[in-house]
Amino acid sequence: MSLAQEIAKRKTFGIIAHPDAGKTTLTEKLLLFGGAIQEAGAVKSNKIKKGATSDFMEIERQRGISVATSVLAFEYKGRKINILDTPGHKDFAEDTYRTLTAVDSVIVVVDVAKGVEEQTEKLVQVCRMRNIPMIVFINKLDREGKDAFDLLDEVEQKLGLTVVPLSLPIGMGSDFQGIYNIWEDNIQLFLEEKKQKVGESVKFDNINDPKIDEAIGKKAAETLREELELIQSVYPEFNREDYMNGDQQPVFFGSALNNFGVRELLDAFIEIAPMPQPKETEQRIVKPEEKDFTGFIFKIHANMDPKHRDRLAFVKIVSGTFKKNENYLLVREGKKMKFSSPNAFFADKKEIVDESFPGDIVGLHDTGNFRIGDTLTAGEKIQFKGIPSFSPEHFRYINNEDPLKAKQLAKGIDQLMDEGVAQLFTLDMNGRKIIGTVGALQFEVIQYRLEHEYGAKCTYEPLSIHKACWIEADEKSDEFREFARLKQRFMAKDKYGQAVFLADSAFTIHMTQEKFPNVKLHFISEFKHFRA
Ligand code: G4P
Repeated sequence: MSLAQEIAKRKTFGIIAHPDAGKTTLTEKLLLFGGAIQEAGAVKSNKIKKGATSDFMEIERQRGISVATSVLAFEYKGRKINILDTPGHKDFAEDTYRTLTAVDSVIVVVDVAKGVEEQTEKLVQVCRMRNIPMIVFINKLDREGKDAFDLLDEVEQKLGLTVVPLSLPIGMGSDFQGIYNIWEDNIQLFLEEKKQKVGESVKFDNINDPKIDEAIGKKAAETLREELELIQSVYPEFNREDYMNGDQQPVFFGSALNNFGVRELLDAFIEIAPMPQPKETEQRIVKPEEKDFTGFIFKIHANMDPKHRDRLAFVKIVSGTFKKNENYLLVREGKKMKFSSPNAFFADKKEIVDESFPGDIVGLHDTGNFRIGDTLTAGEKIQFKGIPSFSPEHFRYINNEDPLKAKQLAKGIDQLMDEGVAQLFTLDMNGRKIIGTVGALQFEVIQYRLEHEYGAKCTYEPLSIHKACWIEADEKSDEFREFARLKQRFMAKDKYGQAVFLADSAFTIHMTQEKFPNVKLHFISEFKHFRA
């Protein structure tokens, strides 16, 4: 198969959802349809159960599962589908944001009863910023939920999307009868006794076919016809280009648990979802069909065995063919590297492969060379853009508990930060180290892992910081000097030496921006330090 054919075959996407909306269930059902797994229950949920904040076994269990489900690949109708796992738990939101830099499209799962929830809003916002094509799947139609049209409105308003319904539910909850598939023009009836089985679809010639009345009853058939008319008059027609540009989002309804509407979703997905796309570097745009390999690291996972400190770095292939035992350049370090056992991921296993193609993810064993955001190439000195670091929400001083283990602690912190577990800031004034995290859970993860993997002990001290602001200013200007003098106690460097202002309140940020208009404060760092 030629490189162009390999590329055209691939669809790499992520499923995003608020916890409990049904992401795991949907993933599993997609794998079942793809024949990648044989029975339900094979994909373990990677969510952290409520109240597990100090349950370290739970954290370890989670780490194990999240390696196993990081990338799930399967073949369906001649396509290779790569699903990238995105943790729904808000404490791991940063992980999800980074993974979103490696997908070519996403499916957003919304619970029919709960509607649009907080995490969904945040994640969709990130996808919109990057114009990632999105399909919405409204799940749990077997339960009582919100009216379909109200939900479509809510999705438009809260998520800022332009929806195009490509299916429509017939009834809901106890009256749920099935789905009218606008995309394929047929009805799939929901047969309660066929639960957990893939139901048959019933083809009708047109919407006035009396067989519809027989199948779902006169009243429901009338309602369906009215609703379809409403859809035609209110919503735009599906336009692939608009979807690809992130200007329009098709919506499907179903019940993942009952296999309902999942095949329709998958069939439409493989037809419309984008194949691997070009990606911007600081220097130029890289196209997948270019002969030379390029890729970037979006995730690093520590080995589960604390005795072996090697890690698995996840590389998204952007262009060319990635080959085993070939010399590649780690651009940031200017270092040539060879990989003798690159892992490719499948639904139920990972395997060493000789070749991988754009859209694929390879797992590379790493002893501490890689950082998130690193670019690997066949030799060209380019740097992929856009693995952002967001301002943490929680900040604490980190102290060394055991003076004899200072080296181990420093190494442990360094490697955990490279993995993207949290962010490290060093105060300019006195060199004290501050850890910033998205969720409180990470502090415990760090403490636990420092002790078990690096033999180092740490304690934390509370610190009242509202946000980390990356500074963009002319450091030689009087204005900057005055700012730095006044804010001396709050000036720090991030792990890569970028200047950061640790603001103690939203008010401080506001006042600072008024007083020092030429000192720009950013809440997102695009990891500028990765530039070659
Ligand atoms: P998540 O990964 O997005 O967090 O959600 P997950 O798939 O784990 O689903 C959350 C809960 O919702 C699960 O129930 C799951 O069985 C249920 N669910 C998913 N899809 C549907 C659906 O179409 N209809 C209905 N009625 N329920 C659905 P649970 O009780 O929390 O877990 P479990 O004990 O069933 O695994």
